[in-house]
Amino acid sequence: MANATYPPPIPGHGLVLRPWDAELVRQMAAWGERGFPYQAFDLGYLKDQQRARTKLAWAREAGPHRHFVACEGSAAVGRLSVNVRDQAGLYLWGVHVPPEHEGRGICRRMMAALMEWLQREYPASDFILTSNAFAEHARRAYLALGFEVTETRWHHESDFALQLWKVAPAERESLSPFLRFANGRWEVRTYVMRRKRGAPMDLSLRRPDGVPSGSSRPGLG
Ligand SMILES: CC(C)(COP(=O)(O)OP(=O)(O)OC[C@H]1O[C@@H](n2cnc3c(N)ncnc32)[C@H](O)[C@@H]1OP(=O)(O)O)[C@@H](O)C(=O)NCCC(=O)NCCS
Repeated sequence: MANATYPPPIPGHGLVLRPWDAELVRQMAAWGERGFPYQAFDLGYLKDQQRARTKLAWAREAGPHRHFVACEGSAAVGRLSVNVRDQAGLYLWGVHVPPEHEGRGICRRMMAALMEWLQREYPASDFILTSNAFAEHARRAYLALGFEVTETRWHHESDFALQLWKVAPAERESLSPFLRFANGRWEVRTYVMRRKRGAPMDLSLRRPDGVPSGSSRPGLG
């Protein structure tokens, strides 16, 4: 399906970023799922053909968002999206690597490839994203890629808040450092992170805090 909104596939860092297509949707539907508190990323519902078609049409729509699948050869190993028209900057979101491909630097490499391309296409813009405070794994990757936390907010997400009422108390307890019950509802601490275009990116196998990759991690994510 030709689509003028999308560039030719973007190669970089051992990956190729492609727009969504039916075969990639089929693969993403089979990805492992994490469930709470990352259920919003799970794509198993795409096994339903009707929902797969609807989601593919959504992912190919002309508009401010571009949705990419990171591929190794023909295998889908990650995905990410960007709003290229957000007032605040090039807004990265939907960053997701399934559990079976985690720990190989896919997140950092696909974000690096996309940001290098975006820096050429949109040379006036910096980058922005928001991240739930409990997503420590993601934040490590963002810090390595030159993002800095510029603001902390309390955010209410209705789906997430609904899940909080449903999960076992122990599960909610593990998130307690990142939650508050305020204004009659659950809110999650989120970070706004920004990256100046051209900021250095660390794609080495070590974490930004100097601990070798693979050491045990605190918290979730
Ligand atoms: C967060 C998430 C995207 C991370 O994916 P990932 O590919 O495992 O992340 P990274 O790119 O940081 O790679 C992980 C490790 O591989 C290592 N690595 C291996 N090969 C590498 C390479 N060639 N280049 C860079 N790092 C490499 C890194 O050092 C990193 O180590 P660390 O986790 O100990 O810091 C994934 O866990 C996920 O989808 N989680 C659920 C959804 C989510 O939280 N999304 C973000 C919401 S804001």
